[in-house]
Amino acid sequence: MTAHTPGLFISFEGIDGAGKSTHIAGLADALRASGRNVVLTREPGGTPLAEKLRELVLGEAMDPLTESLLVFAARRDHLQQVIEPALARGDVVLCDRFTDATFAYQGGGRGFDLAVLAQLENWVQGLPGGGLRQPDLTIWFDLPPAVAAQRLAGARVPDRFEALPVEFFARVAAGYEQRCQAQPGRFARIPADQPVEAVWQAVRAACAARGWVAPGARP
Ligand code: TYD
Repeated sequence: MTAHTPGLFISFEGIDGAGKSTHIAGLADALRASGRNVVLTREPGGTPLAEKLRELVLGEAMDPLTESLLVFAARRDHLQQVIEPALARGDVVLCDRFTDATFAYQGGGRGFDLAVLAQLENWVQGLPGGGLRQPDLTIWFDLPPAVAAQRLAGARVPDRFEALPVEFFARVAAGYEQRCQAQPGRFARIPADQPVEAVWQAVRAACAARGWVAPGARP
């Protein structure tokens, strides 16, 4: 269930190498051109405290429960300090990853207990009037793990996740698939193994179908 607020909350998901960043920037431009205020943010991160937690999660070895607690702690701070105030103002929040990433990476990739993750989700995203804060739309860049591995190879110094083998990312992709099947109305699943322009058109179409950006080319 999504709480009614004047703003819009859009998250972007996919395995590492799926090409989210270009399209997040493009959609921010398109939304601004449609007269919206846009808040660009990311997880783990988005606040000074959550960015510190991000450094730990991406840099230090830890067990999956610790990892899950840290990403949800970061998320709680991010929701309270940035996301909820922005939605209350009527802004559009574009968030590079949100809770689906925890179900995909910690749940799918690491094999951590999904029931514990669901409990943490309830605590962290619970709203005062009942219900859970969830994105209004989640754009999932669906890329075959083998293609993502090729894209990432040699691209930059890998973080703790990017250094993991392709089998890990196959489990992450399966984790996304499971979330998408459980909440299909929230997801726009976009095949990401196609030219950048085609992916962009699909991103724009998902938002245009909801009346959030004007149909047409990139501004
Ligand atoms: P990413 O979003 O890919 O940022 P960058 O483009 O700077 O590499 O990196 C964040 C990493 O954190 C990514 O590998 C997925 C991981 N992650 C989790 O494991 N759990 C989570 O809940 C979130 C939000 C991210």
